[in-house]
Amino acid sequence: MSSPAILFVCLGNICRSPTAEGVFTLKAKNVGLDFKVDSAGTAGYHKGAAPDKRSQEVASARGYDLSRLKCRKVNEQDFTDFDLILGMDEANVRDLKRKCPEEYHFKIALFLDYTQSEFDEVPDPYHGGKRGFELVLDLIEDASDGLLTHLTR
Ligand code: 4NP
Repeated sequence: MSSPAILFVCLGNICRSPTAEGVFTLKAKNVGLDFKVDSAGTAGYHKGAAPDKRSQEVASARGYDLSRLKCRKVNEQDFTDFDLILGMDEANVRDLKRKCPEEYHFKIALFLDYTQSEFDEVPDPYHGGKRGFELVLDLIEDASDGLLTHLTR
């Protein structure tokens, strides 16, 4: 697959998937690669909002700027526009497959499929404390490295 377009998906598109968008985009840029990257939520509760302050803070401390990202909901066109649609957890994958025409189901996977991590899912940090946001960032950095390796092999 040459230069695929990648969509990261979580529930709210204000914590995990914008973090994945910001981290993966910068890591790709740092090795001279420029993919089409975006993120979206399976729910639309926070449409138009910037990422959660806690996500922005932990990301900023490691050099990722999420401040200009804007929340949006997954739409029909995403299933044709993107080549890889990566959910943060099993519920995201299930919700995506429910919305997605059968012929494009092959595009949908779990982001942590690209890691050797003991975690299968990036846990929803929204109702927890700062440590949950640090864990999200750890897992996303790891999976971004794995995805980049996979795409450049
Ligand atoms: P995210 O986290 O799916 O990682 O963006 C959440 C953000 C908001 C809500 C749930 C999860 N919410 O219920 O508003």
